[in-house]
Amino acid sequence: MKIKKTVLTTLITGLFAISQNVWADNPPTTKPANAPMPVKTELVRYPTPTHLDFTKQQGQTKQFELNGQTIRYRAFEHIVYVLNPSDTRYQVMNIYIPEAYFNGEKIDGYDSQTAPIFFPNDVGGYMPATAGEPALNPRQNNTPNAIIVALSKGYVVASAGARGRTETDGKAPSAIVDLKSAIRYLKANDAVMAGDANKIISNGTSAGGALSALLGTSGNSADYEPYLKQAGAASATDDIFAVSAYCPITNLEHADMAYEWQFNGVNDYQKIDMQNIDYRVERKLIKGTQTAEQIALSNQLKPLFSDYVNSLNLKDEQGQAITLDNAGNGSFKRFIEDKLVQSAQAALDKGTDLSDQIWLKVENGKVVSADFDAYAQFVGRQKTAPAFDGVDLSTGENQLFGNSQADKQHFTDFSEQHSTVANATKVTDDKVKLMNAMSHQSPTQYYRIRVGENDRDTSLAISALLALKLQNEGKQVDYAMPWGIPHSGDYDLDELFDWIKKISM
Ligand code: DHB
Repeated sequence: MKIKKTVLTTLITGLFAISQNVWADNPPTTKPANAPMPVKTELVRYPTPTHLDFTKQQGQTKQFELNGQTIRYRAFEHIVYVLNPSDTRYQVMNIYIPEAYFNGEKIDGYDSQTAPIFFPNDVGGYMPATAGEPALNPRQNNTPNAIIVALSKGYVVASAGARGRTETDGKAPSAIVDLKSAIRYLKANDAVMAGDANKIISNGTSAGGALSALLGTSGNSADYEPYLKQAGAASATDDIFAVSAYCPITNLEHADMAYEWQFNGVNDYQKIDMQNIDYRVERKLIKGTQTAEQIALSNQLKPLFSDYVNSLNLKDEQGQAITLDNAGNGSFKRFIEDKLVQSAQAALDKGTDLSDQIWLKVENGKVVSADFDAYAQFVGRQKTAPAFDGVDLSTGENQLFGNSQADKQHFTDFSEQHSTVANATKVTDDKVKLMNAMSHQSPTQYYRIRVGENDRDTSLAISALLALKLQNEGKQVDYAMPWGIPHSGDYDLDELFDWIKKISM
């Protein structure tokens, strides 16, 4: 029996329905929030373009119902955004423009010329990613995804796919080259397209959050020029206006020492299978205890982190130096403890019961202090040492830094020296730098960085250092650790778009 589509989708969300028969015969099923993404088996390879001219694109009018309101938009899908693509399953962009802007109307103060362009990517696990589209988000209880929410609030949306680590042509720095190429396409077409390409706000989660941050910090960097030229990117700048990054898995060459700074001494783990590293995929956790070798590696990695933190010469908002001593204690640790206190206080104020959180000290309705070491014990280790550059080349990041000869490589001197793989090689440092949001001087002024208090995929130090570095460079950084949130993103879209509105008006 065929159920009427609107009835069906209303049953699913109570809020949201899309027309165009998109789901009439193939509706999304109700699955738990952490259910796997539907696997797209046959991805289309789109033809190599002869131009990068948006005026030659044919749009299609579509609509959806959100909270009883009909939102009409024009969809320009599967635009190959480079002239020399190597994989047009992924090097494509979908552009969505509120229909109101074709009728000279305004939405929430924005018009066709002034509407910012929201630029979400769907990268997870440094895997290949397709261009995003309006849909329900299976990772957020099938609520409308960020593209739908953006359109409903009057944003132009451009979502680009990108190549990823499992393909020989998707190794570092392909994914960032692809996203930059898409930005260049938008900038080259600014005069003929709705939306203001001087107001591009990128968004991503995890590996996608790292790429979102990197788009911001590396804007217009000459280091990417040879790759962009080879790809046939449009000639335009590629700096962006603002960055939204959820739990960015960045700074990979320092992530192992940061992880051991946080988890040294915690030897029981709940590990995720490498195949399931992608935050978009349901995780199977394997329990275990670190081996004597892994404990020895942890003990060697932890002290390296203090030197690294001290080399950054960071200061807090009061101008006090952010440092760590040889034992890993000091103002940087207290900085993170303060963030955890703020997170817990916000939860307490909302009535959350914190009595089982033995690492927190709560007195008379006030969270007085957080003990970072006890916190690490409490949340538990998720990765074994070294967490990112596996000595056995077993991680997703090893594959990210592979090349056409070697699918997986090391990317730190430490793991190369401790490699258990015969004839293992290390990627060149320039490629590692091209993937690190910390390695550049940001032209972008606005950053929103979120990492869940319950996230163990990388050390909390990684987001903290990124936020501090950007703050020290005079950028406006909205950085917080929302309570109880695991490794995930797009869970607070109303707040995200409030922030975007505030910075772009
Ligand atoms: C992602 C998660 C990881 O733990 C990691 O190492 C890399 C990427 C992700 O979810 O994108």
